Amino acid sequence: MRILAIDTSCDETAVAVTEERKVLVNEVYSQIVIHKKWGGIVPSLAKRAHEERIDFVVGDALKKEADFDAVAVTQGPGLAVALEVGIKKAKELAERYDKPLIAVNHLEGHIYSCFVQNSRGNPKTGFHFPYLALIVSGGHTELVIFENHLQYEVIGQTVDDAAGEALDKAGKLMGLGYPAGPVIERLAKEVNNNDFYHFPRPMLHSNNLSFSFSGLKTSFYYFLQRHPEEQKKVKELASSFQEAVFDTLIAKTEKAIGQTGINNLLVGGGVIANQYLRTKFRQLVKKHAGNVLFPAYKYLTGDNAAMIGTAAFYKAQKGQFVSDIIGLDRVPRLGL
Ligand code: KG4
Ligand code: ZN
Repeated sequence: MRILAIDTSCDETAVAVTEERKVLVNEVYSQIVIHKKWGGIVPSLAKRAHEERIDFVVGDALKKEADFDAVAVTQGPGLAVALEVGIKKAKELAERYDKPLIAVNHLEGHIYSCFVQNSRGNPKTGFHFPYLALIVSGGHTELVIFENHLQYEVIGQTVDDAAGEALDKAGKLMGLGYPAGPVIERLAKEVNNNDFYHFPRPMLHSNNLSFSFSGLKTSFYYFLQRHPEEQKKVKELASSFQEAVFDTLIAKTEKAIGQTGINNLLVGGGVIANQYLRTKFRQLVKKHAGNVLFPAYKYLTGDNAAMIGTAAFYKAQKGQFVSDIIGLDRVPRLGL
């Protein structure tokens, strides 16, 4: 079964054609250059850029692979005005080509991103349920038990900022541009990822699995205000801030391993492009005699439609198609 998948949940206009877990075509038009000068995503600009680009990106994908049996689209969570553009286009395509429509949760896309294969079907890694999944992106920080196909239980999430958002906000305070995650990774590596300042790790010692990053951001802000002389030590600051964020991610995941008894991990989302964080997760599962899977190709860490098409395939297998295509609406706060 071939699926034409669309994701316009945030700042990428993404279209893919997938077959089971294989990606035949993957197109992404990134809006980073548009939002960069504002230091974050501007919804009205995102909407306009999606509208301007969606036909072109879909057309490009169909030029490469015109054959598909179903259309899939991200229903939420995400920016309402951005989601709308993809949903409208998906409805049009389903109608014009007389194909069924599959609505996908963006978060399940990030979970399935760990299983997406290239066009030759690599990597071959199969499913070995249950998994403990962590999604770490600019918009989300969620710990989920992935019990079986399409069965999720959210056991922890952020009460304020997401992990990537925290990195981006700290980066903005240091003048690193947007998005700051990759820049922070590079700067931290130059000082061997050391923790120079030991910024606070909120909620690290609480017993629940909730994350909180806004306190860290605030204390970072006040640290810079109180110590102007330290402001030029950008590498040391970046490395210490990154360490505080990653330390929290690892500690909470370790707590979740303890509480669930699941040592079989998946990590998806833009932040797991970070090689140092991957190393930390590998060390964590080694300690717990477990295993960890990451998206096999870098483009699968950030937002993309290949992961949406892959999740959609498992929904199609269970007959989960949209029954009222005209009535399908975006759900900006959709949960798993
Ligand atoms: O998944 P994604 O592309 O978009 C959302 O769904 O939010 O994630 C974007 C986030 C940004 O916060 C960005 O700074 C972060 O992922 N990111 C990284 C790296 N590459 C992207 N964070 C740390 N290290 C990286 N190499
Ligand atoms: Zn995402």
